[in-house]
Amino acid sequence: MSKESENCELGIFGGGYVGLVAAAGFASVGHRVVVFEVSDEKLQLLNAGKVPFFEPGLEELVKNGISQKLLSFEKATLDRLQEHLPRLQGLLLAVGTPSLPDGRTDLSYLDSVIDLLLKVPQSLEGKILVSKSTVPVGTGERISKRMIEGGKPVAVASNPEFLRQGNAVYDFLKPERIVIGTENVEATEWLRKLYAPLVANGAPLIEMNLRSAELLKYAANAFLATKISFINEISQLCERVGADIQQIHRGLATDSRIGSKFLNAGVGFGGSCFPKDLSSLIHQGEAFSLAMSLTKSTQEVNRRQRLWAFERLQKVWNNDFRGKTIALWGLTFKPNTDDMREAPALSLISRLIETEASIKAYDPQGMGEASRLLKDPLKRGHLQLMKSPQEAVEGADALIILTEWAEFEKMNLSDIKVLMRSPLILDGRNVFSSQQPLKNSEIQYYGVGLPSASA
Ligand code: UGA
Repeated sequence: MSKESENCELGIFGGGYVGLVAAAGFASVGHRVVVFEVSDEKLQLLNAGKVPFFEPGLEELVKNGISQKLLSFEKATLDRLQEHLPRLQGLLLAVGTPSLPDGRTDLSYLDSVIDLLLKVPQSLEGKILVSKSTVPVGTGERISKRMIEGGKPVAVASNPEFLRQGNAVYDFLKPERIVIGTENVEATEWLRKLYAPLVANGAPLIEMNLRSAELLKYAANAFLATKISFINEISQLCERVGADIQQIHRGLATDSRIGSKFLNAGVGFGGSCFPKDLSSLIHQGEAFSLAMSLTKSTQEVNRRQRLWAFERLQKVWNNDFRGKTIALWGLTFKPNTDDMREAPALSLISRLIETEASIKAYDPQGMGEASRLLKDPLKRGHLQLMKSPQEAVEGADALIILTEWAEFEKMNLSDIKVLMRSPLILDGRNVFSSQQPLKNSEIQYYGVGLPSASA
């Protein structure tokens, strides 16, 4: 092993999505990691080598880390922290930073970690405190100030994450870039050492100042979200003028300045990141009297796009939903996750239940979350959760596809057609747009931004 890839000892606060992927990822390259978590329920699962959410490949990585004694989990209490602290060089903050009701960032979880660190009797001199959580610009400096005022000065850095749910293990081990944001030399050196194994594998490392790293995370998410809203707006125009969004996509993608990624029209973006980060960015701009008009428009286009299927049904059924049964395929905000936060399915279901239609929904991984989040429509009988895609379409008057799960892509539409009362398909992710049998079948098919959907 080269000198550069010495092993590091680190503590990570938060055994959620970012914390756990990072912890298991760092352990897999030889570092020793202890995760401090507040939830007893999560700790119990994690200590048994189980991951509390669905993320392909993560459980295996966690189990390996535990068996090699490189990964452990502790309750985030003062005595547990004190016991580990002497050997820990770096402390990574990976707690949630959700939205407050007004859209600003809720930093209370992060603040409670700082409160805990300030209670530690020993000095933190020489330790590196790194934020992996997505935090508004200036948060790192605020943390540093609190630590100094509390008599525990410490080096502070920002090291934003760019993981995608569903691809997180791959993204962690083969990142498009690693970002170190700090003006502190010791922090830079330690973070270089921490990431040396990934850099040796070809990951580019970019160094910048603290504020820039904090803002970069928001800029990256806002840019990607803006690409999606842009293509969705063009897809709306396609439907009105009889153009084809997929042909336009091909034409755009050949221009290397534009590229092909994050330009798939659909029923809008969701998840725990884009919506909250856009709101936070708008607030951050407005705090400096900057209107952030483009970011606001990105949100606005997305709100409209989530109702694409609803508006299409209004047209096809002449606004009469009485006695209709609607099948929904896909409840999570995207494939390969069980996460339904800000999922387009939630906006659609809340509109559909205002009509007299009933809904039969299926998702390969989201059923647990759906039964937790949609208790009311389930209790009232507006919504039923089905065990298979076939069960969901049985006797349905329309099928709406909201997520491009591989399980749906493999389906044969002729088999689906015979199960339905009337074969109307609204394909919110253009999963079946290239299927030839559609052309001469009796299926009434609409895709996003496709000529079939022309007004
Ligand atoms: C996003 C970013 O892609 C990650 O880089 C970032 O680290 C993460 O947020 C975060 O801030 O933690 P994620 O929320 O997992 O990752 O999901 P994405 O794969 O980015 O998809 C977001 C939404 O956009 C999904 O609802 C997806 O269906 C939608 N989308 C994506 C489209 O509608 N069209 C596309 O072409 C691509």
